[in-house]
Amino acid sequence: MHTQVGIIGAGPAGLLLGHLLSLKGIDSVIVENRSRDYVIERVRAGVLEQGTVDLLIQMGVGERLQREGLRHQGLYISFAGQRHHIDLADLTGGKAITVYGQNEVVKDLIDARAATGRALHFEVGHVVVHDMESNRPKITFERDGREEQVTCDFIAGCDGFHGICRPSIPEHAIKFYEREHPFGWLGILAEAAPSSEELVYTCHQRGFALFSMRSPKITRLYFQVPPEEDIDNWSDGAIWDEMLKRMSTRDGWKPNIGPVVQKGVTPMRSFVAEPMRYGRLFLAGDSAHIVPPTGAKGLNLAATDVMVLASGLAEYYTRNSTRVLDDYSEICLRRVWKAQRFSWWMTQTLHRFPGETEFDYRRQLADLDYLTGSRAAMTSLAENYVGLPLDVALA
Ligand code: FAD
Ligand code: PHB
Repeated sequence: MHTQVGIIGAGPAGLLLGHLLSLKGIDSVIVENRSRDYVIERVRAGVLEQGTVDLLIQMGVGERLQREGLRHQGLYISFAGQRHHIDLADLTGGKAITVYGQNEVVKDLIDARAATGRALHFEVGHVVVHDMESNRPKITFERDGREEQVTCDFIAGCDGFHGICRPSIPEHAIKFYEREHPFGWLGILAEAAPSSEELVYTCHQRGFALFSMRSPKITRLYFQVPPEEDIDNWSDGAIWDEMLKRMSTRDGWKPNIGPVVQKGVTPMRSFVAEPMRYGRLFLAGDSAHIVPPTGAKGLNLAATDVMVLASGLAEYYTRNSTRVLDDYSEICLRRVWKAQRFSWWMTQTLHRFPGETEFDYRRQLADLDYLTGSRAAMTSLAENYVGLPLDVALA
């Protein structure tokens, strides 16, 4: 079998790329090692930048997003028992974010893929990439107990942080930049109506906490824990106790409590692979970079990567030009590093670090006091949070 672009991974990056290519008349085969249900049910990101929303609408997969997504024009930063409002729309000339679960985005994209009739294979095994340096790279995998192979013009490694594409690149051809953080997030989904219409990021003496949501009936909450924390150590009662301690404000605001329907601990990492390309293999999304979730950037970076990649591939097929493909890594990494910077800044502004002193905490409160009292500082947060523009014009 031959295809123009072989795509490994059916997360947001792989599915978005497949659909963008399909709209440009470019053929692809997507292979995914998990089941369709697993991919759809995996609970992850929830915040879409304005640019990601615009992209999904332009691609014709924004119908349910526009109906069910929750558009937020602002957010709250909470500390010392008080919430402070940041008006994202006012500070950015009308831009906003939309709360719509990553799993809903994935579901919409799988439906769109099915409607095109193009190949999307779930539950494949032993995926291996070959001959990336040649102009006929190849993917081999096992499907229904049989060995299959697809030759490609290009391969897109959209297989996430634990995938096989990045490790297939020879060590001498790639460099990694990495930082582990001394905490993780314990996250829950609860059947409780959100008690705030907008997100609340809290810096508390006991540690960071975040109030978010998925729908008018479902609340999504997180708090900072040690990175190795075992979720089994936390009963639902103990989780609510800690949430309320960190989130409740002096004006009486607190999250509504309800049955916990999902819970887990996510470690935090910052990671960048440079360059995001080896021969005819292009890395996109989490396979190339990870940011701590405090800036809500992971999914949005994946969307920008594949937008650039799809544009480069279209230019190759329509004009026989490799101009954008040659610059792919540089174009993406410029934005990726700015997202790393912002995610790191949000993380260190809002979390408590092991070994901190009272002095450090007072300085942190002063930082937050400055942030929420200065229009210049709030504008900086707002323009990064709704998403920085891509510094380059794409065809
Ligand atoms: P992924 O979503 O990881 O998709 C990769 C796909 O490749 C997966 O479906 C995987 O099964 C498949 N795959 C892996 N190996 C192979 C293989 N060998 N062969 C075939 N397929 C393979 N971001 C935010 O902005 N906000 C958040 O709150 C947030 N929370 C997160 C919570 C968790 C637990 C995790 C892990 C991530 C979170 N992120 C969050 C990050 C965000 O979810 C990712 O940035 C986003 O999923 C990236 O999409 P992707 O398609 O690049 O990678
Ligand atoms: C979420 O709703 O899951 C969410 C929101 C904002 C973040 C991270 C996660 O920064």
